[in-house]
Amino acid sequence: MPALPRQAHFTVKRSDFPKDFLFGTSTSAYQIEGSSFGGCGESHWDSFAATAGNVVRCENGAIACDHYHNWPQDLDLMKELGVSAYRFSTSWARILPEGRGQVNEEGLDFYDKLVDGMLERGLAPNLTLYHWELPSALSDIGGWRNRDVADLFADYAEIVVKRLGDRLSTVVTFNEPWCITWYSHFHGAHAPGLRDIRAVSRAAHLVPVAHGKAIAALRALGQKDLGIVLNFEHISPLDDAPANREAARLTEGIYNRWFLGGLLNGSYPEDVLSYLEPYLPEGWQQDMDNIKAPLDWLGINYYTRNLVSAGTTEPGSALPEMIGNKGPLPRTEMNWEVYPEGLGDLLSWISKTYTGALPLAITENGMANKDVLTGGAVDDQERIAYLDAHFRQALSAIDKGVPLKAYFVWSLMDNFEWALGYDKRFGLVHVDFESLKRTPKASYHALKAMLSGT
Ligand code: FCB
Repeated sequence: MPALPRQAHFTVKRSDFPKDFLFGTSTSAYQIEGSSFGGCGESHWDSFAATAGNVVRCENGAIACDHYHNWPQDLDLMKELGVSAYRFSTSWARILPEGRGQVNEEGLDFYDKLVDGMLERGLAPNLTLYHWELPSALSDIGGWRNRDVADLFADYAEIVVKRLGDRLSTVVTFNEPWCITWYSHFHGAHAPGLRDIRAVSRAAHLVPVAHGKAIAALRALGQKDLGIVLNFEHISPLDDAPANREAARLTEGIYNRWFLGGLLNGSYPEDVLSYLEPYLPEGWQQDMDNIKAPLDWLGINYYTRNLVSAGTTEPGSALPEMIGNKGPLPRTEMNWEVYPEGLGDLLSWISKTYTGALPLAITENGMANKDVLTGGAVDDQERIAYLDAHFRQALSAIDKGVPLKAYFVWSLMDNFEWALGYDKRFGLVHVDFESLKRTPKASYHALKAMLSGT
């Protein structure tokens, strides 16, 4: 496999981007805060992680980066880096330990201080309401398979926004519906670890329903700049064989077009619908207007591509077997191929086909690297090359007229990488998970130089 390219500096310049273009970093609550602190309730990630075989070494987010106590230092690191926005999430289980009912005031106070801390440091707060830590009490009643949870999500959204909304720049309902639904209810790789066509079909509809309900509730409160974050892969057939082309089309429909279609057009793509419809909740058609609630912007997460081939479908299977393959490109520690062109292609396709003049933001992009701390430094030049190549794609999309407004790097610091535990390091800042010491990596210093124009 070819080695990852390395680079000591960025080749793009801050001045290549529009003046009002925002650079930021991105994190999420469960991955950094430490869910054992501050009266946080249990989430389905805690019990999923406690089940051997689900997460590397049964690791969990109980301590994580202990951002709960170290947040001033972490915000300082962002200020020092020179970014002007921070994409963070609130934990539903921290705010409502039972998912509904009694509010954990300590949890709300924590976010209140955090948001003030951002503003004091010139960081625009970009909130995500759901980055995957469903309270266990709601998982017990069926989680995203149960329509009641969609209403409870809107209630939670209201509680958070009533408290923080006056200081938030943007509010996102969900991070990555594909992961919440397919990865977690069909591939079984994330909490709640299901592998069930009915479960995923219901979730793939009820998450958009919950989004629509929350958007309506937040509009009623007068909240501005509402959006959602979808994840995309650049998907193409492994080769020209008709069966592989067909498998790629369906994979791409499930991954990229289902949520775009529902949210932007109020209709799911027919090719995917033909497989899922028997399992959708009754009366689903009546929800489509609510799902299509107008957005103010769309967030795009992008990491890699997927070359798809057809497998051998078991008789009786609700879906044909689709196999993901890698090509010859260099791969990150996640074993993901580095394919920056995919980002450019997706940005053009999304804006041309679905979003038109709607502002877009890259809400996550970055790489896991084999980072080692030696002599107090981490020489992650691979990450500089990775980001630089993706920044170039963002620039060329802007040149082509795509209304791209912001770029958030995943992630500010190394953190709990879900099923992969603490093994995969995505941060611009290294975290020693024993001492919790933060050490800015070479990529942090290079990005700082780029942002300050030096
Ligand atoms: C995305 C998630 C984020 C992180 C990155 C690597 O799918 O939104 O939390 O795990 O991948």
